[in-house]
Amino acid sequence: MAAQKVRSRWKCDPNETIVATIESVLWAQLRPKRDGVMARPPPRYACQQCGAVANRWSGKCDACGAWNSIVEETPVTITPKGLGGGAKGRSLDLVSLEGETEDAEHLPCGIVEFDRVCGGGLVPGSALLVGGDPGIGKSTLLLQVVACLAKKGVSCAYVTGEEAVGQVRLRARRLDAMEPRIVLAAATSVRDIVSTLDKAGAPQVVVIDSIQTMFVDTLDSAPGSVAQVRASAQELIRLAKRRGLTLLLVGHVTKEGMIAGPKVLEHMVDTVLYFEGERGHQFRILRTVKNRYGPTDEIGVFDMTDRGLNEVSNPSALFLGDRGEAVSGAVVFAGIEGTRPMLVEIQALVAPSTLGTPRRAVVGWDSGRLAMVLAVLDARCGVTIAGQDVFLNVAGGLKIAEPAADLAVAAALLSSVSSAPVPRDTVVFGEIGLSGEVRPVSQTDLRLKEAAKLGFNNAWAPKGARKRSSGLAVREITRLTELVARLDEHAVSVIAVRAR
Ligand code: TYD
Ligand code: MG
Repeated sequence: MAAQKVRSRWKCDPNETIVATIESVLWAQLRPKRDGVMARPPPRYACQQCGAVANRWSGKCDACGAWNSIVEETPVTITPKGLGGGAKGRSLDLVSLEGETEDAEHLPCGIVEFDRVCGGGLVPGSALLVGGDPGIGKSTLLLQVVACLAKKGVSCAYVTGEEAVGQVRLRARRLDAMEPRIVLAAATSVRDIVSTLDKAGAPQVVVIDSIQTMFVDTLDSAPGSVAQVRASAQELIRLAKRRGLTLLLVGHVTKEGMIAGPKVLEHMVDTVLYFEGERGHQFRILRTVKNRYGPTDEIGVFDMTDRGLNEVSNPSALFLGDRGEAVSGAVVFAGIEGTRPMLVEIQALVAPSTLGTPRRAVVGWDSGRLAMVLAVLDARCGVTIAGQDVFLNVAGGLKIAEPAADLAVAAALLSSVSSAPVPRDTVVFGEIGLSGEVRPVSQTDLRLKEAAKLGFNNAWAPKGARKRSSGLAVREITRLTELVARLDEHAVSVIAVRAR
């Protein structure tokens, strides 16, 4: 017998674990052929961070690179012949793609920032996931959302697995969200929740806070493991589709490294929102990551106060704050977030380094992109910043992903190097290519209009922006060397003024 041969050969190996692993794999493959008995499924290992499945344990997940995140999970039974041996399935009705269907109905809650991020409001029968770091304000946001819906006559349920009912009540009182149409429950068993809500007259909107605390009793694994999070979400989503209710799931991004991140749920739900922000700032940003019923890349801006989250309808004014006199290294970037223009200040500081390898510290922007801008400045413009520490910060805790910020970053760096401030009433935007050219970016008119609205008079922008000036004096910049020359002019005039 092949299995026995292999067994005897490997039995003399001192490494018992290798013997056991090879044996279990061979056994699983050979046994059904020999006597038709169902194979013992090999063990399965799943990453608790990203959900990747492997057939052996390792300290590091190959898929996401996380350390110590792989745990053994109860294997699923493998049927040797697939579905072939079972009963025949029901034949499906195949319909034509062409046909009449109504658009998804959106139910706005009245918090404009939230509604826009959701694509116009909540969709009945859909599941929405709000992910974010613990303590960022997810429970506060969803309690405010259900309170607004309840004020409009929508019946809502708030199921908490993390806090006691009394704690939620206290918070609701603080947020001025005491609404009789909201029902509360402290529960973690998905079976209990489904039994309670699976009936006529059940609430139309259900919040589950958080999915990591929920469990289904048919699985052995602990609440928060990938298997439990997946199974709980699946049951709840099935209920939402069956009953046409809107499910709002809260998911923590990480907690002690052992709790499954919401990444494993992203493909199961219809909409994924991430709530983010810097802990030191009171601003919170709600970002669409996926939306089956609306656009992605939208953001909603909130301000965390002692009475909950306030909407920020004019984020540019908030991110710019009270700007005093022009200082070197600070540049206003005219950006776009989703469909909205947003002005933010980019601050750079270039300082002599005491370290062998100078520091490159970036907050709110991509450090790879900063390295590229520094390399282009060096190679194409002769401005060398090597040997100096570079600090780059996007004010207000916003994270910028747009390449259009390149020119503003370059201007901030050059301004810091030359100690020449960029004029206070100037906005800057444009993408930089590796050959030192400045490329046009999308939505130029929206950017310029927002700048004009907020009292800016000048713009340094790529070619083609002048014809969309919106009343601003636009200086077109086609090559990065022109920006260097422009800041040199300023440096000379600033030094002349200081000398006087
Ligand atoms: P919470 O909504 O509990 O966060 P999450 O559900 O994401 O874990 O928010 C917790 C933080 O928000 C906590 O640090 C206190 C702060 N907070 C306020 O500043 N003001 C408020 O009105 C509320 C309710 C919370
Ligand atoms: Mg919470």
